[in-house]
Amino acid sequence: MSGFEVIIYEKQDGIGCITLNRPQALNAYNIRMRDELYEVLGAIKADPEVEVVILKGAGEKAFCAGADLTEFLTAPSPVIARRARFERDVWGLFLSIDKPFIAAMHGYVLGSGIEMALCCDIRLASEDARFGLPEPGLGIIPAAGGSQTLPRTIGRAAALEMLLSGRWLTAEEAYRLKLVNRVIPRGDLLPEAERLAVKIKSHNGLAVSHAKQAVVRGLDLNLAEGLELEARLGHYLLTKKDTD
Ligand code: COA
Repeated sequence: MSGFEVIIYEKQDGIGCITLNRPQALNAYNIRMRDELYEVLGAIKADPEVEVVILKGAGEKAFCAGADLTEFLTAPSPVIARRARFERDVWGLFLSIDKPFIAAMHGYVLGSGIEMALCCDIRLASEDARFGLPEPGLGIIPAAGGSQTLPRTIGRAAALEMLLSGRWLTAEEAYRLKLVNRVIPRGDLLPEAERLAVKIKSHNGLAVSHAKQAVVRGLDLNLAEGLELEARLGHYLLTKKDTD
């Protein structure tokens, strides 16, 4: 795929890699980035060759410094903003993809930067990563699913403290709160994300995507329903293998 201006998409040996690519603006999420992510996520979802994806930020300073403040509240009206969101539900699309995503985060991880990472399945952070949700300070609330995905990841109290106080977390604090899986020296961040992707990719792709579905969809169910889901997915996987 080509023609992107604010992201880079690469694909090699079954591993996709999306780079948020506005380093001069700390990879702030703007309308163009929304449109390009929508396009690339749709392509990844439909592409049988891609089995695992890495998401990272370009430049030295940031994974993503949140929504682009120069476009802040520039939609002509709330109705138009809501319609645009309905037509291009990037986050709904992101969360609907059964393939595993690894976020490799360095530097500033703010606002929609955290929310994008929360759409991923495994989050790696370099030691210099800093996490914050500036939204309430700007008079808004998270708009990329964060008010739902953050408490589901770190729990209600920690999510509310982070959101309401606006206090930033160090990578170590983010690790202790289970916002990130691991903290890694900066120079090892990408190699480690790639090693992890290669390891996941070495497994049966259908089993991997079914395991992700069992966990992610199961989290929204009670235990009995979750066990039923696991049995159904497991059965489907076995019968699929038998008929292949
Ligand atoms: N939207 C648009 N541009 C942004 C941006 C954002 N969210 N965050 C940073 N930038 C731009 C800056 O305007 C600056 O551009 P310039 O070089 O043309 O002046 C460039 O990125 C570098 O940022 P700078 O502020 O100089 O870096 P810093 O290291 O001094 O500070 C931050 C980094 C992240 C603390 C600071 O940029 C900041 O507070 N950004 C806003 C974060 C935010 O509120 N995001 C919205 C979340 S809803």
